[in-house]
Amino acid sequence: MVKKAIIPAAGYGTRSLPVTKVVPKEMFPIGGKPAIHYIVEEAVLSGIEEILIVVSKSKSIIVDYFDASLELEAFLEKNNKLHLLKNTTMPKVHIQYTRQPYSKGLGDAILQGKRFVGNEPFAVLLPDDIIYNAPTPALSQLIRIHDQFNANVIGLNKVHPDLVSRYGVIDGDEERTDLYKINHIVEKPKSNAPSNLVVIGRYVFDPEIFNHIESLTPGASNEVELTDAIGMLLSNQVCYGKIIDGDRFDIGTDDDYINLINAMWKDKE
Ligand code: G1P
Repeated sequence: MVKKAIIPAAGYGTRSLPVTKVVPKEMFPIGGKPAIHYIVEEAVLSGIEEILIVVSKSKSIIVDYFDASLELEAFLEKNNKLHLLKNTTMPKVHIQYTRQPYSKGLGDAILQGKRFVGNEPFAVLLPDDIIYNAPTPALSQLIRIHDQFNANVIGLNKVHPDLVSRYGVIDGDEERTDLYKINHIVEKPKSNAPSNLVVIGRYVFDPEIFNHIESLTPGASNEVELTDAIGMLLSNQVCYGKIIDGDRFDIGTDDDYINLINAMWKDKE
């Protein structure tokens, strides 16, 4: 049973500057809701009961967003606009927050959740990746595999070979058309990528991953890479890769951000 999830939302969003100086990319609007709203919804629909969002100093807007807005509620009530109140409803789930004091990469952000997780398997959802049109919520697809095999699971996507250098890339044994037993993982390979199966920002881990993250030292860019910890974990634990059923949009890229909005817009017509 996977009941807890970590959502790392502490990064500077350097790929999307300058707007990310003041608007975190997790708050980029998509069809009237910020990106992170879809991520929290997906977690809840996948059975998650407690969420830890890892923020940084400049991300208080995320905390405000999921909070009740008493002033707004009072305003709507006073002005006979109570029918709009439903538009302010947030997903029903317990959310807590912690700050990542230094921007030391994805691995370090996840490590901030060690106490929150305790001794249970847990999920990680990266708010850059929005999975649209999934027949069942993307995270629930991974949780199913975790519950079946009692092992770590990572979300995968098959991409054009030109795009592999943007992501974590795996090499694995095909167990069935959508499931791989991972042998090897490498972060953003510049050349000689082991396949075109890339990591999507959805993971289910056993808590041992924290020991591996703790044993890492930051690389050249002063970042502790989650991918390196996963690589270490492969030496003594099983990790599956599941191709996620659904359309993946990496909203950290302008193309996918626009494509997702267009896809939603078309479906509305
Ligand atoms: C992170 C991971 C990478 C993964 C990607 C998915 O990279 O390090 O392995 O493929 O998320 O979005 P980032 O987007 O933080 O550079």
